[in-house]
Amino acid sequence: RQLIVPRDRSLPPEVFHWIPIIGSAISYGNDPLKFLFECREKYGDVFTFTLLGRKVTVALGPKGNNFVLGGKSTAFSAAEAYTHLTTPVFGKDVVFDVPNEVFMEQKKFVKVGLSTENFREYLHMFEQEVDDFMRNDEAFIIWQMNDINEWGRFDVTDIMAQITILTASRTLQGKEVRSGLDKSFSELYHDLDGGFTPLNFMFADLPLESYRRRDEAHKKMSQYYTDIIRKRRKAGYTEESDMISALMDQTYRDGRPLRDHEIAHIMIALLMAGQHTSSATGSWTLLHLASNIGVQDALYQEQVDYFGNPDGTFRPMTYEAFRKLTVLDSVIRETLRLHPPIHSIMRYVRSDVPVPATLAAPSENGTYVIPKGYYVLASAAVSQVDPLIWPSPRKWDPTRWCDPEGVAMQASKTYADEHGEKIDYGFGAVSKGTESPYIPFGAGRHRCIGEQFAYLQLGTVITTIIRKVELRLGDGITDVPGHNYHTMVTMPKKPRDICYRRRKLAET
Ligand code: HEM
Repeated sequence: RQLIVPRDRSLPPEVFHWIPIIGSAISYGNDPLKFLFECREKYGDVFTFTLLGRKVTVALGPKGNNFVLGGKSTAFSAAEAYTHLTTPVFGKDVVFDVPNEVFMEQKKFVKVGLSTENFREYLHMFEQEVDDFMRNDEAFIIWQMNDINEWGRFDVTDIMAQITILTASRTLQGKEVRSGLDKSFSELYHDLDGGFTPLNFMFADLPLESYRRRDEAHKKMSQYYTDIIRKRRKAGYTEESDMISALMDQTYRDGRPLRDHEIAHIMIALLMAGQHTSSATGSWTLLHLASNIGVQDALYQEQVDYFGNPDGTFRPMTYEAFRKLTVLDSVIRETLRLHPPIHSIMRYVRSDVPVPATLAAPSENGTYVIPKGYYVLASAAVSQVDPLIWPSPRKWDPTRWCDPEGVAMQASKTYADEHGEKIDYGFGAVSKGTESPYIPFGAGRHRCIGEQFAYLQLGTVITTIIRKVELRLGDGITDVPGHNYHTMVTMPKKPRDICYRRRKLAET
């Protein structure tokens, strides 16, 4: 489209690049944080860069987050930014393959399944899954041998990927998926996941084997869930505490129940949305605990204080007590501050949008305008370590979350607002909090609905491990590893081994 910019308006400054089309793809792709901070030095909070033929206008800082995430859906579209990535994996008639109002209804259905009542049951299922995993997986052989002197070792991301899928399938996904994990389901998941990569985000379709396998896996996975739904109906349908059960009970505003394939595709979407995000967060958390013995001890002590028996064993957690664990809460929050799994959130620009003067002062040629056809980008990874906002921004320091007047608590004030028992998420309405610098779960209409589930899952997984073993960084690893930005969510670079030793008093 021919770009016509009115005389009193101008395009945001553009990042210089040598190679047409490719633009800044390599610098941004290798280290988005470094790239975005360097561009901010040169161009300010709003600038445009070229990403494999796309024009992407970045809006940084809390005001930038607000601009992108609080923008009207008539101006900024998540669907048009992501559907080529998500629809082949999730499937038809859900998420970005339906009009936004329908997706918002679907999010509401999911919210019904993420109830406190279900969470109470999930807590014990999580504990049990981790316990079983540690008893049976080879990585924990030293622990299993009941040896309190020798150290064992594991690759943290390998372990967390397995624990995350085991715990999510035992709870949200349901018993059929959990039992299929040992067999057919795992392979399908693996192939589908191979189609959910940055390459798939950049190129809708390529004649590659991984694209073919993705499509094949999607069909089979969709059938897998549809079979579960049909079998449950045929068996007279017993109510379970899982998401399939919750979705089978829901109806759209016009009274129509969800069709089987819609339920199947929502289940796939939830599987994909929660797997890497939670497993990455769990990995980073364990790495930080392994490198910070003081915090690790405090976390262990918190478990002893709340749930410890005099003989060194532990009572099972209760949901109510779990919500009071401030050390655990701060540890997860701080990890998500330094390592938000999704570093950039993008939207497609549907109509020319002026940039407010409060975000970027107009140039001598007038107000900046972002033209239709561009993309906009907000970055949690930048605003969460912005030295203009956070004291010692790159330091992992969970105690910053304990000061009610501190920057961290102020930044996440909206978290408390949105998560208090009384608060209604108000789907469809732009929720509060889009102007926060702390947005690991996004903000606004597309905000994450899995946050509380993820906190419960991560919290239980981490404490169940910490109750049983002490952790240290693997031999030769002197610090928490750097970020690997080449995967869909930000993962720790290899080597990322953790050494563990059985706690002296831990139960057998
Ligand atoms: C959306 C992060 C876990 C389901 C989002 C968004 C972020 C995010 C940043 C907003 C994306 C955007 O605006 O484009 C995370 C993190 C997680 C996590 C950091 C774990 C630590 C989960 C889990 C589930 C889930 C466990 C499912 C149970 C969703 C859904 C959306 C979403 C359905 C809505 C997408 C939309 O409305 O466009 N998540 N997520 N997430 N997440 Fe999560």
